[in-house]
Amino acid sequence: MSIRVMRSGDVYRIEGPAKVVVKRGRVYATGVVYSEGQSFTVLRARKLVIKAVEDSEVELVLGPGALLEKTSPGEEVIDIWEKSVAEMDLRGIILIIGVMDVGKSTLAALLGNKALSQGHRVAIIDADVGQNDLGPPTTISLARLDKYITHLRQLTAEKSIFLQATSLERIWPRAVKQIYKAARYALEVWKADTVVINTDGWILDEEAVAFKRRLIEEIKPSLIVGIQVENELLPIVKGYSNVLLLPPPPHVRAKSREDRKIHREMGYGRYIFPPVELAVPLDKIPICNLPLFKGVEIGDELKRMLAKTLGVPVVRAYQVGERVYALVQNDAWLMKKVGGFQVVCMPLEFEKGLLVGLEDGEGFLVGLGVMKKIYYDKRKAVLYTSSDVEKRLGEVKCIRLGLIRLDENFNEVEKVASLLKVEHAPHL
Ligand SMILES: Nc1ncnc2c1ncn2[C@@H]1O[C@H](COP(=O)(O)OP(=O)(O)OP(=O)(O)O)[C@@H](O)[C@H]1O
Ligand SMILES: [Mg+2]
Repeated sequence: MSIRVMRSGDVYRIEGPAKVVVKRGRVYATGVVYSEGQSFTVLRARKLVIKAVEDSEVELVLGPGALLEKTSPGEEVIDIWEKSVAEMDLRGIILIIGVMDVGKSTLAALLGNKALSQGHRVAIIDADVGQNDLGPPTTISLARLDKYITHLRQLTAEKSIFLQATSLERIWPRAVKQIYKAARYALEVWKADTVVINTDGWILDEEAVAFKRRLIEEIKPSLIVGIQVENELLPIVKGYSNVLLLPPPPHVRAKSREDRKIHREMGYGRYIFPPVELAVPLDKIPICNLPLFKGVEIGDELKRMLAKTLGVPVVRAYQVGERVYALVQNDAWLMKKVGGFQVVCMPLEFEKGLLVGLEDGEGFLVGLGVMKKIYYDKRKAVLYTSSDVEKRLGEVKCIRLGLIRLDENFNEVEKVASLLKVEHAPHL
């Protein structure tokens, strides 16, 4: 613990874990001025920039590995960020965009705080499925802000929507719909005046531009705030006038791919905790994106014929309308026209280790799970989920299969993009 004197205008960068208590004077952090007796925290492995608004004294409680550095004048972007948003009326939907590691989450916290200080009812939506700060990875998560924060991580999701994957490349049209749904929920159910939406860092290719522009068209933000390193956001914001472009902080510690993966894996572990094994009757709680049991099981004779035509042993097959779902003894996922039918071949045990979302009647997530096995004859699925989900099982209306496979330690072992080709996605 140490007391530090800060002269008016001094800017410090703090790496957490740390707690800062203002003993005298006033200190600015993430859009908020803290005065005597007030305090805030800097989370572990995160950095926060603070500024003395007047001559001040702060008590610093630095945890293991915490660091404090004084910055030179003009080095940090704290003043530019603050000045750019200080006078703005922050009502409406504010969309934050930017590549990875540019401070999007930090800016979301700042804008949320600012809107709160203006007296608005504030909701935050984290639509970054890879590095979600509010809820589990693979989700869009929502929370209301009712006190000032220094990091988005300090909020807990009140609602989440399962997006099945950790990146949006192949599923962005769904993301657009679901982000829209989340925004409507915040506006209509929570009656939020301000909805701050944080997005993923996928920006740099044409598809990403198409996604972000469609998102803008759909949710019609009152303000788009971009954190731009060079000119990479221009293709996205071209033609829009309600755009504010800000520079990124200069010394952000970039996370490697591996860091991001580990962060997510810890996320699965945290949200599927304490884990319980659960047997779910699939007639009562069906799989919503694969209508296996809605169909008619095909008898042995037809199965043999199908196997002959496909050239693989067919273990089970279900006919649903003009589709036949065949579980085959083979590793390949295949779509094949046989007679008048579209036959979808899926490897037997395709379900083992799939991340799943257990959804309520409104399509919100009750909790995540990991599929262990489907027992076809008993029409049940055995999966791991949290004991909280077990308690709330009455709310679960369906199980949505995800597009990633996890091992028993929640390590991501495979992206199961093939499922995307064969799944039934009525919400698209
Ligand atoms: N002014 C700053 N100087 C240095 N580091 C900062 C600053 N502001 C925030 N950081 C740190 O930089 C990291 C990235 O910031 P943040 O999480 O806000 O960015 P992001 O764009 O949301 O990243 P991601 O792509 O991982 O979601 C965090 O560890 C954050 O604590
Ligand atoms: Mg972020």
